[in-house]
Amino acid sequence: MADTLTTARLLLRRWREADRLPFQRLNADPRVMEFLPGLLAPEASDAMVVRMEQHFERHGVGLFAAELLADRSFLGFIGLSTPAFDAPFMPAVEIGWRLAAEFWNRGLATEGAQAVLRYAFETLELPRVVSFTVPHNLRSRRVMEKLGMTHDPADDFDHPRFAPGHPLCRHVLYRLNRSC
Ligand SMILES: CC(C)(COP(=O)(O)OP(=O)(O)OC[C@H]1O[C@@H](n2cnc3c(N)ncnc32)[C@H](O)[C@@H]1OP(=O)(O)O)[C@@H](O)C(=O)NCCC(=O)NCCS
Repeated sequence: MADTLTTARLLLRRWREADRLPFQRLNADPRVMEFLPGLLAPEASDAMVVRMEQHFERHGVGLFAAELLADRSFLGFIGLSTPAFDAPFMPAVEIGWRLAAEFWNRGLATEGAQAVLRYAFETLELPRVVSFTVPHNLRSRRVMEKLGMTHDPADDFDHPRFAPGHPLCRHVLYRLNRSC
């Protein structure tokens, strides 16, 4: 299991105590949480850190804390997770990301995710990685597209976490298969 991945600008690593405060701030930012179920209180943000660390222990993969190599700024997370809900495309390994808004639009999510995909396909030899979001989350969809992931509308699904008709219920699914 890799505990770190590095790219030209990023260190992806396991979580530290010092990440909790900047992660709380990011999870309380309406820009970051626009397409997610709601702002997180500090306790809920800390609980998510604990769950992400437990995920590494249980599954050998997880959502890495992302920091900028240049000045060690904490950015958010980029990594892999194994969703625990039922859907037609399950079981699956998902790639996901959430960065503080001041770091958006510099290609950082894509750069980190490219390293995660390389690790997923070349080291873990996963056959496929998926990603999903609500249709209006164009930033996240753009990252998926830049990674070479493809979207088939026939795969769109209702996320069981939300009641039918809830604005966050409908999701688009993107897939990427290992090339060889
Ligand atoms: C999604 C997210 C991680 C992207 O991070 P990022 O580092 O800005 O991503 P990148 O810079 O690699 O790519 C962003 C792309 O979205 C594009 N983009 C930005 N705003 C956009 C908008 N309103 N509509 C369409 N595209 C947009 C950018 O132009 C860029 O594409 P380009 O390189 O072709 O110009 C970041 O926006 C985020 O954390 N969002 C909130 C959390 C979230 O929604 N996570 C995903 C849940 S599924």
